[in-house]
Amino acid sequence: MCGIVGYVGKRDVIPVLLGGLQKLEYRGYDSAGIAYIQNDKMHIVKSKGRLTNLEKKLGDVVAENTIGIGHTRWATHGEPSDVNAHPHTDAAGDLAIVHNGIIENFAKLKTWLQAKGIHFISDTDTEVVAHLINYFDEGDLKTAVMRAIKMLEGSYALGVMSIKEPHRIIAARKDSPLVIGLGKGENLIASDFPALLEYTKDVYLLDDGEIAVITEKDVEVYDSYGNHIEKEHFTIDWDVAQAEKGGWEHFMIKEIHEQPTAMHDTLMARMRDGKIDLSEINITEELIKGIRGIHIVACGSAYHAGILGKYVIENIARIPVNVDVASEFRYRMPSPLLSKEDLFIVISQSGETADTIAALREAQSKGAKVIAITNVKGSTISREADFTMHTQAGMEIAVATSKGYLTQVLCLYMIAAEIGRMRGSLDDADYIDFIENLKKIPSLLEQILRDKEKIQQLASQRFMDVNEFFIGRGADYALMMEGSLKLKELSYIHSETYAAGELKHGPIALIEQNTLVMVLATQTVLMEKLISNIREVKARGAFVVAMTQQRNVETVEKEADMVLPLPDIDDLFAPILAAVPYQLYGYYTAVFKGCDVDKPRNLAKSVTVE
Ligand code: AGP
Repeated sequence: MCGIVGYVGKRDVIPVLLGGLQKLEYRGYDSAGIAYIQNDKMHIVKSKGRLTNLEKKLGDVVAENTIGIGHTRWATHGEPSDVNAHPHTDAAGDLAIVHNGIIENFAKLKTWLQAKGIHFISDTDTEVVAHLINYFDEGDLKTAVMRAIKMLEGSYALGVMSIKEPHRIIAARKDSPLVIGLGKGENLIASDFPALLEYTKDVYLLDDGEIAVITEKDVEVYDSYGNHIEKEHFTIDWDVAQAEKGGWEHFMIKEIHEQPTAMHDTLMARMRDGKIDLSEINITEELIKGIRGIHIVACGSAYHAGILGKYVIENIARIPVNVDVASEFRYRMPSPLLSKEDLFIVISQSGETADTIAALREAQSKGAKVIAITNVKGSTISREADFTMHTQAGMEIAVATSKGYLTQVLCLYMIAAEIGRMRGSLDDADYIDFIENLKKIPSLLEQILRDKEKIQQLASQRFMDVNEFFIGRGADYALMMEGSLKLKELSYIHSETYAAGELKHGPIALIEQNTLVMVLATQTVLMEKLISNIREVKARGAFVVAMTQQRNVETVEKEADMVLPLPDIDDLFAPILAAVPYQLYGYYTAVFKGCDVDKPRNLAKSVTVE
């Protein structure tokens, strides 16, 4: 999604804007631009492609003691081009805006403005907003913005400035995140924390409908009626180092290696006297006795975490779990089926995914209490959910998630244990054993991360593949959804995940000589079935790479072409370990293919639009 940065203060605004946009590159973009005011003139520099193109255009210009706004664009309306890049301006070029979101009624507004003789030069919805603000500008920019946004339908995070008011930026948001950085003699706006960390961790989190007026000395926030609001200060609990690669070649490989720590921190943050304390999400005996089922809603990898959570919760807590893709749930016809007896959980690493936010609001509108599992404190989802369980994964910069996903899975395992204990389906001895297994995971992940050669070698042999299959049964099948997505989104190789028992119902027709079939085989009770599935695909020429615990290697290596051993652990916890080799496989395959590993094409770290 688009990145927004704005600055008011004494520094040279150019490096502040460029540096901030660089910190937001991970969000995914296809063009960029900045606007700054100097000598009472608005300067706008925009460029298609990477930030380096913009830097070249800017040259060595210096603009101190002024204001500026910058933007990285992830195209929604109009192709990536210089003219469609932000900032956009009014006809005179006196007013400039940057925008993240989608204005759903932009065509109607554009026609209305064109009928008033206003000429457009871009294909974007954002340019409509620039002309609309100018249309309402009668000498006070804040009022003009307030009037203009009342006509907008859809989502927006806006940064607005004008040469008529050269010492302030106006910011506004609805359904698209915007944060205000509170510095000393300087203030900033940004669409996400990393752009601010170099200057301040003290921020205001703008809420939907609020408007802020930012000068170098102060920040005033107003509601949509123009009433002044006293905002609470929020402190970002990430450090600048997390926004750096720290010697790793990519954020992706760095964050894969941060998983042992992330899993340890996420677990230990909730251990109290040998028990998991989930009071933060109100998982109490009373609540649990009253629930009939659990509804999990999320997108992408977070959805995959939900699917794995389903297998574990139903296994341990013996309660039905329904997992839904947020974009499907929110538009289920005539409306989603939800009851007050359902426990409703949304999962989102960024806490800003538009479809997941919409699902949360839909559930709340039906009276459900919503639990959120998210990694970003202060995110929209963490603020709107009734209860929030924060994963302690730290900042995740790579577009493809690793530690975000795995800590989400861990939270669902913890929920399974607590509900199982409270419902009596997990007795005391098994509960203690469950926790002991969770405690082993960080060190076992370290062991896997020390032994990457086989994965790297496999990737070097297969990175020219066009199609690959990821199959498993039970919780292994759930994990393979994420294993497959990692390969797809990092290396652009097409891969499919199938329940292994499903292949014979059609997909096996796709197996040809040397087709790579990844098999996850960690569930002892399903091993025999899985071995017959291995034989099925091998009989049609497949090259089978099986992953299983060390104790099963002798059995599996008789059947597969290659075996990737996992450290021994109880079957229920083995899929957690298996996530890492598949993350590494996707990573190394992408590296061998020369892909942009941290910023895969077409993808964004936080999909804040529908
Ligand atoms: C993860 O590798 C993907 N980039 C993507 O599927 C992501 O999981 C999805 O967009 C949901 O994001 P969220 O967890 O921030 O809501």
